[in-house]
Amino acid sequence: MTKPMVSVIMGSKSDWEIMQHTKETLNKFGVSHECKVLSAHRTPAETSQYASKAAAQGIEVIIAAAGGAAHLAGVIAGHTTLPVLGVPMESKSLKGLDSLLSIVQMPAGIPVGTLAIGKAGAVNAALFAIAILANKYPEFGKKLADFRKEQAEKILNEKLP
Ligand code: RP5
Repeated sequence: MTKPMVSVIMGSKSDWEIMQHTKETLNKFGVSHECKVLSAHRTPAETSQYASKAAAQGIEVIIAAAGGAAHLAGVIAGHTTLPVLGVPMESKSLKGLDSLLSIVQMPAGIPVGTLAIGKAGAVNAALFAIAILANKYPEFGKKLADFRKEQAEKILNEKLP
């Protein structure tokens, strides 16, 4: 089995409906990855352990999704120097503003690259991870360029009623 290059962590199974779009995008580009539920507050020891060992396991980028004030991405980033990308999940009470702020407002010293709330963030986290990998693996850069070209062509060919 191919070793995962990207790790997609989410705080709850309830995040999967959105985070499946990260998986779909990574699949489209042929990026090996693993998806897991780990929570900063419900499974704090396992989360720290996973993040601490990720680099040694061959993981190159970590994507962490969480909703509310869960702070999963920040906790993971505190345990690894790998690039960590955070995806804020839309929450019921505050529509994801709580999630966004808990991920984006990292104090200086431990960065988390924060994406948009919800599906756009889930897709872009995968594309961002692929762009990071492209620095080392040129085939991903080529795939990204092709994807952008197709996307632009689609827009230019849009027909309005
Ligand atoms: C966070 O709490 C999860 O990332 C999820 O977005 C949110 C709610 O979790 P559940 O109560 O649905 O398991 O930790």
